[in-house]
Amino acid sequence: MATEQTYIMIKPDGVQRGLVGEIIARFEKRGYKLVAMKLMQASKEHLEKHYEDLSSKGFFNGLIKYMASGPVVAMVWEGKDAVKQGRAMLGATNPLASAPGTIRGDYCIDTGRNIIHGSDAVDSAKKEIALWFPEGLCQYTAATASWIY
Ligand code: TYD
Repeated sequence: MATEQTYIMIKPDGVQRGLVGEIIARFEKRGYKLVAMKLMQASKEHLEKHYEDLSSKGFFNGLIKYMASGPVVAMVWEGKDAVKQGRAMLGATNPLASAPGTIRGDYCIDTGRNIIHGSDAVDSAKKEIALWFPEGLCQYTAATASWIY
């Protein structure tokens, strides 16, 4: 069980629907540490790079258009098993297959409007973090009551 960093992004529909605070709260309450965050309007070129592995898919153009339709919240969360647990917190790609209690399982019903992205492996997390945060992350020590945690 390693301390990892994962790239989590609230998609434009998540921003439009006012789900930003709720999603951040879930990661905070679970125990993950926020080490980078920004609201940004991503260019099509940037999004094409992010999703380059999917460029041959029939849904690719629609995906890029949707992702460029408004701002996204780009974040990096750090902690134990952050990549795998982040995916578990998101739920399945198709929200109708996502368990209630997951973010997608609680807040959406369409694959093409599934409100959140999360890295699917440690390697892709590294690539995505470098793409979205070339300026680097924020390093700090979170204040904790050391006799408990
Ligand atoms: P993918 O990387 O397969 O899923 P995930 O986001 O869970 O890692 O696909 C990227 C996004 O592409 C997905 O979140 C929603 C969109 N998508 C579609 O619009 N239609 C589809 O059939 C699939 C598989 C994905």
